[in-house]
Order: sequence, then structure tokens, then C-alpha cells
Amino acid sequence: MRVLVTGSAGFIGRNLIEYLLKNTNWQIIGMDISPQMLSPEKYGFGPNPRFTPLYGDILDRVKVFDVCSSVDSVIHLAAETHNDNSIQDPEKFVYTNIVGTFHLLEAVRNFKLRFHHISTDEVFGDLPLDARDKFRENSSYNPSSPYSASKASSDHLVRAWIRTYGIAATISNCSNNYGPFQDVEKFIPRQITNLLMGFPAKIYGNGANVRDWINVEDHCSAIVAILENGRIGETYLVGTENEYSNLEIAHSLLRILGLDESFIQFVQDRPGHDLRYCIDNSKMVRELSWSPPRRDFTKDLDCLISWYSNNIEFWQERKSHVEHHYRNLEM
Ligand code: DAU
Repeated sequence: MRVLVTGSAGFIGRNLIEYLLKNTNWQIIGMDISPQMLSPEKYGFGPNPRFTPLYGDILDRVKVFDVCSSVDSVIHLAAETHNDNSIQDPEKFVYTNIVGTFHLLEAVRNFKLRFHHISTDEVFGDLPLDARDKFRENSSYNPSSPYSASKASSDHLVRAWIRTYGIAATISNCSNNYGPFQDVEKFIPRQITNLLMGFPAKIYGNGANVRDWINVEDHCSAIVAILENGRIGETYLVGTENEYSNLEIAHSLLRILGLDESFIQFVQDRPGHDLRYCIDNSKMVRELSWSPPRRDFTKDLDCLISWYSNNIEFWQERKSHVEHHYRNLEM
């Protein structure tokens, strides 16, 4: 099978390419707008005859059609993904996440490809902090931020293309991912790199907001399970029921690094900040026999701290740019 992965140079994309090379025999084309990621060496696993990195923007309809003409399946990851950025500058989110997905859907319809759309649990809005409620495949859409609204719109496009044009598509909505290569603008890498540099962890509001954290490798195994055995037209929710408040995670990082409370700084809250996300993964388990390994989250955080301290070249330059941007928000 020849598979196109859009957004292959992003955090989940990089981890997915490596996972596919290890766990399938597929030929993979990775398309991304990051020009420096054209070299396979940059992916950290060296050249591989089964992997071709390509430069391309999903907003370029001609390019999308060109690349799609030579594959059997598409895993669509390319997206603007950071809530804080969407609040500052929503326009890119509308174009990339909605119009970009539209281009891919049109190419998929034209060439009759198998399509898997990667989405987020944020399309369902949030859950109360003090409830045991979970998101399920039939939860109603209720996005809060420009980012989640743009992902919800893209999901609706996919659903409409399935029903109207009969394209062979599936959707997955996943919870918060953690793992290597995540950008330092996101919560866990931001706090790890702050602490490694001797700065405090920056916690929005009172830190009570809860996220459901999944190891990125488990997300990758879910994507393969859906592409191989998922029922066409279906949505699958992906998560591992691993809920922690932001403050709990910050405390775990402090404990691992042997730092005290003075390394926590509460800063201005995110506007419209979602309270809690939690995924009911029973459809994945029941229908696809998906069974990610049991993980020790604290141990995973410890490994991640080692990864960021051993891979400074991945984040150092980007860090100053990101923190400059955050300084203006957190005044
Ligand atoms: O739920 C899946 C989603 O998870 C993905 O679709 C998004 O692409 C991904 O960014 C993530 O969204 P969040 O907004 O939950 O992730 P983020 O890492 O930005 O923030 C996680 C939590 O940490 C959230 O409650 C906000 C808080 N936070 C974030 C940052 C960057 C802080 O308290 N301090 C920070 O410095």
C-alpha cells in the first residue's frame, strides 16, 4: 500500500512515520510545509527506501491532486494545532484546517482513495471538572476555540463527503498526546524546557484544568488499527483514560527534577479555557481489539525530561521565539 501522510514533519507526523516504518510494510510519502524536513536524516531515523519526504502545502490544490494521484490511502494530520495561536491569529486555522481538508477530500473523491482524518477530542467542547462524564462517538459537537471550531468544521466536511459522495473515510478524535518531538509551545514540553533552563513552570489560571494524556505511540497504533480494520464512515475516539490536572503534572515534573514549589508560577488564564477532556475508548477496544500497553505516566514524564535534555538542538532556537510570544500574552 502507498500511503500519503500529510503533516509528516509535525510532532504526531514524525512519530507516525517512524511507527509505520517499524510496524508495517507500507510505502510512505510524507508531505509537509517545513522545507528543512525534506531531508530524511532530519527525521532522526536516516534514509529508508520506503519513505519519501515531500515539500507541499495542503492549501496548494494542484500539489495535493498531484501527490494524491500516486497513492492508495491518505492519513491526514496536517493542521494548525495550538489553541493559544488560534486565539491570537485565527485566520491560518480557518484556511489550513478547513480549506486544506477540503482540497484533500476533493482529491480523495477524484482518485477514489482510502482517507483517514485525524481530529481532536476538543471538537466536543469540555466536560465539568467534578463529573465522571466522558466524550463518546455520539457526543455533540460544541467547540470552544477557533482551533477546535476549525477542526470541528473539517470533521463535518469529512462526514458530508462520506454521505454525499460515498468516499471511503474514517475519522479519529484523540486526546492530548505526549512524546518526543512535541513543540515547546505545548504544555508538557514548555514546562520541561522551562525547568531545564532554570525558569518556573507557567500554569494558566489555577491549574485545575484536566487533560487525558496519551503516549503518541499509542495514538499511532490506533491510527493503523483504524486504517486496517475500521469500518468505513465511522468515527473512533482514541484515548487511554489517563486524566491529570495541569498542576498535578507540574508537581510531577518538579518531583522528578528535585525542585520546589517556587518553580511554579501561575499566569493569566487562556480565554475560554476548556475545563476537562476525557475519552471513552470502548469502541476502539471492542471493535478493533485495540489494546495499548499499560504505561506508567510518571516514568514516561521522566523519559521525556531525558529526551528534551538530550535533544537541545531540537528546541533551543525555537524556545526563545516561543517564549517571546508568550511574554506578550502573560503580562
Ligand atoms: O485534546 C487534544 C488537543 O490537545 C489537541 O487537539 C491540540 O492540538 C493540543 O494542543 C492539545 O490542546 P490543549 O489546549 O489541551 O494543549 P496545550 O498543550 O496547549 O495545553 C494543555 C493544558 O495546559 C491546557 O489546559 C492549557 C494548559 N497550559 C498550557 C500551556 C502552553 C498551561 O497551563 N500553561 C502553558 O504554558
